[in-house]
Amino acid sequence: MAAAVRLFVLRTVRGSPGPAVGLRGARLPVWNLPRFRHSASSSQGHDAAASEEKSTHFGFETVPEGQKAERVYKVFESVAQKYDVMNDAMSMGIHRLWKDALLHTMNPLPGTRLLDVAGGTGDISFRFLDYVHSQEARRWRREARALQTPSWKEIADSYAPRAKGHRESRAVVCDINKEMLKVGRQRAKDLRYTTGLSWVVGDAEELPFDDDQFDVYTIAFGIRNVTHIDKVLEEAHRVLKPGGRFLCLEFSRVSNPLLSRIYDAYSFQLIPVLGEVIAGDWKSYQYLVESIRRFPDQETFQSMIEEAGFFRVRYHNLTAGVVAIHSGFKL
Ligand SMILES: C[S@@+](CC[C@H](N)C(=O)[O-])C[C@H]1O[C@@H](n2cnc3c(N)ncnc32)[C@H](O)[C@@H]1O
Repeated sequence: MAAAVRLFVLRTVRGSPGPAVGLRGARLPVWNLPRFRHSASSSQGHDAAASEEKSTHFGFETVPEGQKAERVYKVFESVAQKYDVMNDAMSMGIHRLWKDALLHTMNPLPGTRLLDVAGGTGDISFRFLDYVHSQEARRWRREARALQTPSWKEIADSYAPRAKGHRESRAVVCDINKEMLKVGRQRAKDLRYTTGLSWVVGDAEELPFDDDQFDVYTIAFGIRNVTHIDKVLEEAHRVLKPGGRFLCLEFSRVSNPLLSRIYDAYSFQLIPVLGEVIAGDWKSYQYLVESIRRFPDQETFQSMIEEAGFFRVRYHNLTAGVVAIHSGFKL
């Protein structure tokens, strides 16, 4: 039964704390507060500029582009402390399986450099470190078993991290929101992730990293919150090494009309209520549900990733399209 549920959830396929590597000059040092571009101003010149400013959506509201980042910031500042509990409550724990699926798609090798943008409280990076460490441990066990009549020294050597040629796997969690990162750092301490992890405040639209730095770029449930998706994709392309992989896990479009209606009823009627009961915050969770509906569907998003210069762009749906994983390569 459990296996069947897991299959339903996952199939429906189509189509050491310290400085981060390659931090870009002085653009956005660790723990700097993000700067927001306000559209409203008392001066006449600014009023004229504001009236010409493009608008965008914040959930179902239309807002001037310059206001969106600040409003999104406030949402995550408000939910940060309850973010992980709410994720479990809203998805009945299924977000864990979706995140595991992202790691299985990534299948990282030991030595991989990951940039996890909009990384929040660190879920993807923690999974990444667990994954590569379990791969390494499996390999060392295999090698130890393969030794015939090994001495104690040979066994100990086969388990020890390779000094020569050993490249540490590293994850950089980058997020615009200091509060989300603060919760993440505390979780890392509690869960004893002591090495291979850095936390950087940064805007996905203007990443504080040099070009060609990372093997893998992930963004999970983050890209629907940004103002300019195209800029985020351009930045992802810039910071990846040639051969590097872009992976995005995001809510998407349920194509089955019956499931879609059930999903809508659940999202709009239950999630804000859960937000109020668990986190005392109806409005933020109303925004989260609305933002999901404003995000482009699977095919449109695939085209946007291709336009940003990625190759071999593919996606697969999880849970009937409630979420999708998009993948592309920088060649
Ligand atoms: C729904 S949370 C996802 C967190 C984490 N990736 C996860 O899967 O649990 C969305 C995150 O996106 C971040 N975010 C929103 N806009 C951003 C931007 N322009 N640059 C970087 N992070 C951003 C928020 O601060 C928040 O932590």
